[in-house]
Amino acid sequence: MTDQNLAPATFEVDGKRLEFQRHPAVEGNDGVNIGSLLRETGLVTLDHGFMNTASCESTITYIDGDEGILRYRGYPIEQLAENSTFLEVAYLLIHGELPDMDTYEGYMHRLKRHRLLHEDFNAFFHAFPAHGHPMAILQAGIAGLATYYPHTLNPKDPVEVDKATTLLMAKVPTMIASIFRRAAGLPLLYPDNSKLYAEDFLWMTFGMPYEKYDVDPMLVSALNRLLILHADHEQNCSTATVRMVGSADANMYASVAAGVGALSGPLHGGANEAVLAMLGKIRESGEGVAKFVERVKNKEDDVKLMGFGHRVYKHYDPRAAIVKKSAHEVLEKLGGDNELLDLAMELEGIALSDEYFVERKLYPNVDFYTGLIYKAMGFPEKMFTPLFALGRLPGWISQYREMLEDPTTKIGRPRQVYVGEAERAWVPREERQHKA
Ligand code: CMC
Repeated sequence: MTDQNLAPATFEVDGKRLEFQRHPAVEGNDGVNIGSLLRETGLVTLDHGFMNTASCESTITYIDGDEGILRYRGYPIEQLAENSTFLEVAYLLIHGELPDMDTYEGYMHRLKRHRLLHEDFNAFFHAFPAHGHPMAILQAGIAGLATYYPHTLNPKDPVEVDKATTLLMAKVPTMIASIFRRAAGLPLLYPDNSKLYAEDFLWMTFGMPYEKYDVDPMLVSALNRLLILHADHEQNCSTATVRMVGSADANMYASVAAGVGALSGPLHGGANEAVLAMLGKIRESGEGVAKFVERVKNKEDDVKLMGFGHRVYKHYDPRAAIVKKSAHEVLEKLGGDNELLDLAMELEGIALSDEYFVERKLYPNVDFYTGLIYKAMGFPEKMFTPLFALGRLPGWISQYREMLEDPTTKIGRPRQVYVGEAERAWVPREERQHKA
């Protein structure tokens, strides 16, 4: 939204004074619309990794990285994590308001009607190697939903978009549980409509067809909390990917599947799996935490402290603070790997008091402690990032929908600064001089 009363931002380029419209933020950094820069100067902006580029205006999530603040639709993450269910937060992100009693009931009812996966998915999952990474299978599975529900693909039709929203929210937990069961060689379990979202997911993952499975309420509440903490994080790598793919009018499944691909990277959602691998290696090698930190600081073989650092937070990640508390509670109750938790805390303690990390404002991020909780709950390491994806799903959907509804949306198409060969003439193969 532009504000005509605001003085424009002025820049001087090659002696020419240029004015650009400001886009005021409700909180945080105002934007400057530099869309006309190319036309007026022949220059493009170059911003590696989008360090300084806002790709949209959004009403969904607010982060203040210096103060460690995260809010969904204005509500502080701490209040949502303490009081809400994941489904309620999903509704908030997608529809803009917390649901009242009737709306919540109706929402749960709608999702329950669509939890089943098409039976063909059994064969689909079996077509992948059992040891294949669940994120790759999940990405394919979500993209594949488009082939089963062709009446939900049109991004121009709000009714179809609503249907795709419901199907994704309802079926992705079943899909993730099925991927896990298949890899473990266990029979697939159907959803149980007497159970709520997180509880049903735990049943489909850990239940057995031959015995009653009473899900521990503490586990349900810990999972709800983790899913809430992951539910949105404004324009991160996977969300920006979802918006970019969607900006070409690609359907919601294709766009969200692309987001899953981005999330799988160890610098993004894959970090939760990488943290546990790192802790395991430190323990096995016996080298000690201090020695490992030295190797990180020396940037030895690209050794990084996984689960540390963030593009936006230059303060303790508010999600990590909640997860850390939860890790203690869950491990105490379930008797998880306390040795690894102790190792993680030792690592955090050393890092937070070390000049290298202090100077660069590197703090634990959400991924630092989550793996320890997932492991204590019984999830194998390969399932950690799919759990992140389950949590991030409503965020991706809400951002995709906001992108569709925004009249200023244009197909995402960055410019480049070309630094390759200048024009040269084609030479026949036998005359070519091979460059060393
Ligand atoms: N360990 C050691 N050094 C680090 C780390 C780390 N985890 N993170 C950043 N640095 C250093 C980096 O080497 C650089 O140092 P220098 O100034 O000497 O070149 C400086 O800190 C600035 O880092 P950057 O790479 O320019 O920061 P970025 O904003 O481009 O990257 C990040 C952010 C999250 C990719 C990075 O901090 C990182 O790789 N962390 C480890 C992976 C991780 O935990 N990812 C999860 C992120 S949170 C959840 C999510 O988004 O999915």
